[in-house]
Amino acid sequence: MNMVSSIQQNTDPFALAKELSGFHLIDGEMVKAASGKTFDVVNPATGDVIGQAADGDEADVDRAVQSAAAAQKAWKKMPARERGKLVAECGRRLTEHAEELARLIALETGKALRTESRVEANVLADAFVFYGGLASELKGESVPFNPNMLTVTQREPIGVVGAIIPWNVPLMLMALKIAPALVAGNTVVVKSAEEAPLTVLRVCQIMNEVLPKGCFNILAGFGPECGGPLVAHPKVGKVTFTGSVETGKIVSKAAAEKLIPVTLELGGKSPMIVFADADLDKAVAGAVAGVRFTRQGQSCTASSRIYVHESIHDEFVQKLKAKADAMKMGDPLDEETDIGTIVSPDQMERVKGYIQKGIDAGGTANLCSQLPDDPALKKGLYVQPVIFTDISPDAPPSREEIFGPVTCVFKFTDYEQVIEAANDSEFGLAATVWTKDLHTAMDATQRLEAGFVQVNQNLVVQPNLSYGGIKKSGIGREASLEAMLEHFTHKKTIIFNMG
Ligand code: NAI
Ligand code: MG
Repeated sequence: MNMVSSIQQNTDPFALAKELSGFHLIDGEMVKAASGKTFDVVNPATGDVIGQAADGDEADVDRAVQSAAAAQKAWKKMPARERGKLVAECGRRLTEHAEELARLIALETGKALRTESRVEANVLADAFVFYGGLASELKGESVPFNPNMLTVTQREPIGVVGAIIPWNVPLMLMALKIAPALVAGNTVVVKSAEEAPLTVLRVCQIMNEVLPKGCFNILAGFGPECGGPLVAHPKVGKVTFTGSVETGKIVSKAAAEKLIPVTLELGGKSPMIVFADADLDKAVAGAVAGVRFTRQGQSCTASSRIYVHESIHDEFVQKLKAKADAMKMGDPLDEETDIGTIVSPDQMERVKGYIQKGIDAGGTANLCSQLPDDPALKKGLYVQPVIFTDISPDAPPSREEIFGPVTCVFKFTDYEQVIEAANDSEFGLAATVWTKDLHTAMDATQRLEAGFVQVNQNLVVQPNLSYGGIKKSGIGREASLEAMLEHFTHKKTIIFNMG
């Protein structure tokens, strides 16, 4: 490892996008796709092409997996704390590069710099530092099996981990996969999302100055052509995926063919329940954070179903709308901007389609904020946030994951009814409850069918708390020590007979 990074921070995201264009990172080297093909990376705020990504296929996947498999032989033999120190050092260097990462992720995804991109870039290091410090917790047990025998278990790495990531929070979601995988002694091959291949490549480049070559490889490419061969590769022993339910099923079936474990972090339709006694202003602020207005709602944990007691419903809606109206939509790189763009034309169509379906089903679409009037942004993928009221619980926006700036607010009167309504979903990722009453809070947290339930707050994923869903929201947990142990190691039992 070079003690001092030779990679200079480059806070001009346009220049950096060009510099990173056309590459995978395999075996410590920035390399082009074997086919020589690339695809365009587009700035969603203007429609301009800002660079290219290598268009990966089976040949690139094989090269990356072979490199990871070769590197794993030495990596797993390194003392765990040494691996941990290297991973923590990656975190330190990523902090030094936080501003360039923030600007580049804003450019390629359209997430506003001040409210979203800088926040993501600044918490990225936390995951590496957290897992780096957990290296010596890769412990086994000693088992009282027989007095003449020493019986122990130990945690061993799985081997090569294939990680497939989405575009909404790519830095953070990638970190929560690769940090525990690496610390546990695995090596990784990441396939980035086609909408956001550049910033994660930069992260990989920075980390490859610290890690031995081949430990962390990254490929750009499309799902079936590049993600498919990664899951199917015979030397990939574990797959960790974040994305849609549909793709999650494909990945899970392919992994089943090889009988390898998968972790799936899929969608959500997370309820927020505001009881009559809740602190209204806090609940409104929680809804602003929960709906992820500043991320255009592009979050798997978004509070996309809000149940408000009828006695405060109208006031809640009026206050929520006022807050959303006060947010400025604009150029993601402008410090003034609160809300940037949707990530891609496909997502834009999907979101607009859901808004139309809600209107067709008789819902009232309360449009919030204002589209930017800057002519330079006229091709930008801007959608005004929508708060649906008086919408049927069976309308598509009420039931399906939209992944856009759309939430549905429902009136409720009865406690039993609202718990039932909140649980009446095929998803079970997150939920929040807003009340000052301890009994209500306790009972609701016990009965809500979700993997992550919060009372009177709406925090995002934390590195040290288990995170994941039940029902169609996924399989397995991410973040926390348990995720590293349960999802990136297997347990070996060893008996020494000294009788
Ligand atoms: P997606 O699930 O298709 O894509 C996620 C990742 O999977 C990308 O890297 C993609 O290239 C890869 N992929 C796609 N097909 C694959 C295949 N056959 N084999 C292996 N990898 C494959 O999600 P997409 O199309 O970006 O978004 C569609 C919807 O999915 C969104 O509107 C949203 O509802 C949901 N979504 C949920 C996310 C979450 O955080 N849970 C993240 C992104 C999307
Ligand atoms: Mg897709």
